[in-house]
Amino acid sequence: MEEKQTIYDSLGDKGIHELVAHFYKKVESEHRLRKLYPADLAPAAERLYLFLVHVFGGPSTYLERRGHPMLRRRHFQWKIDSNLRDTWLECMWYAMDQVPMESGVYEALKSYFLNAANHMVNR
Ligand code: HEM
Repeated sequence: MEEKQTIYDSLGDKGIHELVAHFYKKVESEHRLRKLYPADLAPAAERLYLFLVHVFGGPSTYLERRGHPMLRRRHFQWKIDSNLRDTWLECMWYAMDQVPMESGVYEALKSYFLNAANHMVNR
């Protein structure tokens, strides 16, 4: 029987890398979001990249470097309301539109990010 194809298999390192690069490019232009991130976005981009590689079925380097994600807890330090969530999501929708992908993968990413972003709202 064939193994189930993961999002990682489909996008590859390159696709996930591009997704994250486009996401942070867009974050640069969203003041309310940008001011929460460190001055140098490169390490933040690396963390998001490794995290997504892990959740989409690739190597678990994120866990080795950062431990258990505990994402909601790690995001408590910022006041995340529905408005800020929408801005984050808009950056991600923009990034997704820049990376070629199959429609099934596109739909899977949309629902994953929508759920995850809702989970991060803490105000
Ligand atoms: C809803 C609005 C969100 C806001 C305002 C937000 C904001 C931030 C900020 C300011 C950081 C610090 C950047 C750094 O230095 O690493 C961060 C880290 C991170 N965010 Fe978000 N985020 C949001 C949603 C999400 C979602 C939906 C995901 C997952 C799909 C996510 C995944 C991550 C990851 C993996 C890190 C790095 C965690 C670590 O290892 O320390 N974020 N986020």
